Amino acid sequence: KEVVFDYSRAAGFVSAEEMENMKATTLCARDVLMDKSGAGNDFLGWIDLPVDYDKEEFERIKKAAAKIQNDSDVLLVVGIGGSYLGARAAIEFLSHSFYNVLPKGKRKTPEIYFLGNSISSKYIHDLKDVLEGKDFSVNIISKSGTTTEPAIAFRVFKEMLTEKYGREEANKRIYATTDKSRGALKNLATEEGYESFVVPDDVGGRFSVLTAVGLLPIAVSGADIDKLMEGAAAGRKAALETPYESNSALQYAAVRNILHRKGKAVEIVANYEPSLHYVSEWWKQLFGESEGKDRRGIFPAAVDLTTDLHSMGQFIQDGSRVMFETVLNVEESPAEILLQKEEVDTDGMNYLAGKNVDFVNKSAMNGTILAHTDGDVPNLMVKIPEQDEYCLGQLFYFFEYACGVSGYILGVNPFNQPGVESYKKNMFALLGKPGYEKEREELLKRL
Ligand code: PA5
Repeated sequence: KEVVFDYSRAAGFVSAEEMENMKATTLCARDVLMDKSGAGNDFLGWIDLPVDYDKEEFERIKKAAAKIQNDSDVLLVVGIGGSYLGARAAIEFLSHSFYNVLPKGKRKTPEIYFLGNSISSKYIHDLKDVLEGKDFSVNIISKSGTTTEPAIAFRVFKEMLTEKYGREEANKRIYATTDKSRGALKNLATEEGYESFVVPDDVGGRFSVLTAVGLLPIAVSGADIDKLMEGAAAGRKAALETPYESNSALQYAAVRNILHRKGKAVEIVANYEPSLHYVSEWWKQLFGESEGKDRRGIFPAAVDLTTDLHSMGQFIQDGSRVMFETVLNVEESPAEILLQKEEVDTDGMNYLAGKNVDFVNKSAMNGTILAHTDGDVPNLMVKIPEQDEYCLGQLFYFFEYACGVSGYILGVNPFNQPGVESYKKNMFALLGKPGYEKEREELLKRL
């Protein structure tokens, strides 16, 4: 079972000659990545993670997950950006579509809610209602330990935990995933005795899904994290050892840069399964933060199809021609729903009787690909054989590796994110954080 990149539908936009011409550049970018000779080279720990991870910690993650499954009705996962999206993408990709509301017995693992990814009072308030009468635990995830959004959410629910269980038991229900030795959260974890997991120094947030950042919540959901790592190792082997001509990650990096150089400014990732929504969100962060800098980059966008064919479909088909589309195609649906014949064909759907709903979905996908191609939107595809841990591990690695190579082709440092600091500086100044007095004065004049 292999996750494969296929750009055969984009043949009219990217020629074999262009791909050959891009080979030297792509291999050079690959070498810069693998020699660790490029910008951001202190953040390349993700390259070997699938084969070189902390096995002792991995076992502790499984034990902690089993404890949470045993003593909690709910797990709260507090984090934002790279400390959030990977776990959510994986859990939604791998779990039942209605995981949190499945009746007891149908789901043996805790409900899982994500928070600390906004500053919404309503969200916090409403989540407190959900917790009433339920046993819960908290996984606070922050590499820096000082990010405002998760820190606020953590304060609120730490207090709720303490009120419910007392400080000693509350501390046993808090799991901190953070830097191994530095930062406010690490200090607090040490003081209070929280069980801690490490975000390695050389792994940036958006590349951290295969560390404890992603693995603990994913394991709590009941997913098999051994299989996930196996899949990632297979993805790594394919990315590192396959020649350019048949290397999915290198080909994807090459094709998107060819299209970008021809004027395409937007890449739209399109899925045909609602459970891939957060894979698209994870992908948006990965490519957006890695490439969008120095006034460069392809803007990463996403649509859920066929849903958005009834809204954004108009623009993709017929609006300004700035984009190409990358379809995430889950080839094998886990569910078979057969359409039945009705006596009176009022809705005119009887021609589909005996057909599988997934056949209809795939026909919609194929029809859309051709329509968009006819509308001058180059179409790329990532084929995902099944929605399981092994394929997801490959998918994560495929995109991470392609992103590193693609960023170097583009000529940026794919592993920093200086732009995310600007809003924080202004927010701190407006909130009156000590040390920001001068900025505050200037901003207030402008408001
Ligand atoms: O990719 C990144 O670096 C960011 O999205 C961070 O992951 C995000 O800001 C959260 O940071 P932290 O884990 O330090 O709270």
